[in-house]
Amino acid sequence: MKVLFFGDIVGQPGREALKEIMPKWQKKYQPDLIVANGENSAHGKGITEKCLNEILETGVGLVTLGDHTWSQKQTASLLENRKLQLIRPANFPPGLPGQGYSLIEIGTRKVLIINLIGRVFMSSNYDCPFRKADEILEDEAEKADIILVDWHAEATAEKICMGWYLDGRVSAVLGTHTHIPTADNRILPNGTAYISDVGMVGPSNSSLGADKETAIENFLKQTGFKYEVAQGPVEINAVLIEMGQKNKAKKIQRIQEIVSID
Ligand SMILES: [Fe+2]
Ligand SMILES: [Fe+2]
Repeated sequence: MKVLFFGDIVGQPGREALKEIMPKWQKKYQPDLIVANGENSAHGKGITEKCLNEILETGVGLVTLGDHTWSQKQTASLLENRKLQLIRPANFPPGLPGQGYSLIEIGTRKVLIINLIGRVFMSSNYDCPFRKADEILEDEAEKADIILVDWHAEATAEKICMGWYLDGRVSAVLGTHTHIPTADNRILPNGTAYISDVGMVGPSNSSLGADKETAIENFLKQTGFKYEVAQGPVEINAVLIEMGQKNKAKKIQRIQEIVSID
């Protein structure tokens, strides 16, 4: 069983690049399940029904979110529709629309995908992601053959600690949010595939997918930053995870390709 996981998809360039690469990568890597983080897919902030459909139509089986979950007004109603393959971080405050995890069947195997958000250097005070992971695993782990975590966080210390905390209890802890791929992909001692950040699917000549001139201007003048999605070649960052026995991962490989979508 192979899982292909894409990091944060940024705007139209990210969505177009995903469409472009998918047939090639499906043939090359033969994934059984594809998961992607869609929190920046609507012009860099949040997700709309159109963006979600575009992503799902490429072959993605489930879309995860992050701190930009509520950036688009319509997302709450999308999350309320349980038929849509869309989840948001599980450790948001209780009572909000949507699910923080999803159990899906792939052939004879059941895959539990959990979305969690970090608390260090994030703009909101979320509930404890570590205790939330315990809670979900206590209720759901027995039903699943494979457990994947989209771990949407900023600080690498918090990220690796989640890796260690869940090592041996889940198949993979995959970092998202920073948009920059890290070179620390590995299988932890008890069989959990780990990476601090998968990286984005977004414009390469940019600041995390945003127009670099606007971003630099804000650093120079501190006048506030208006997010404009950058143009030009798109870097596609993903990981391919090969599952081994039971809930354990055998291999986690980083994949990157830069495509021109013009
Ligand atoms: Fe993001
Ligand atoms: Fe984020």
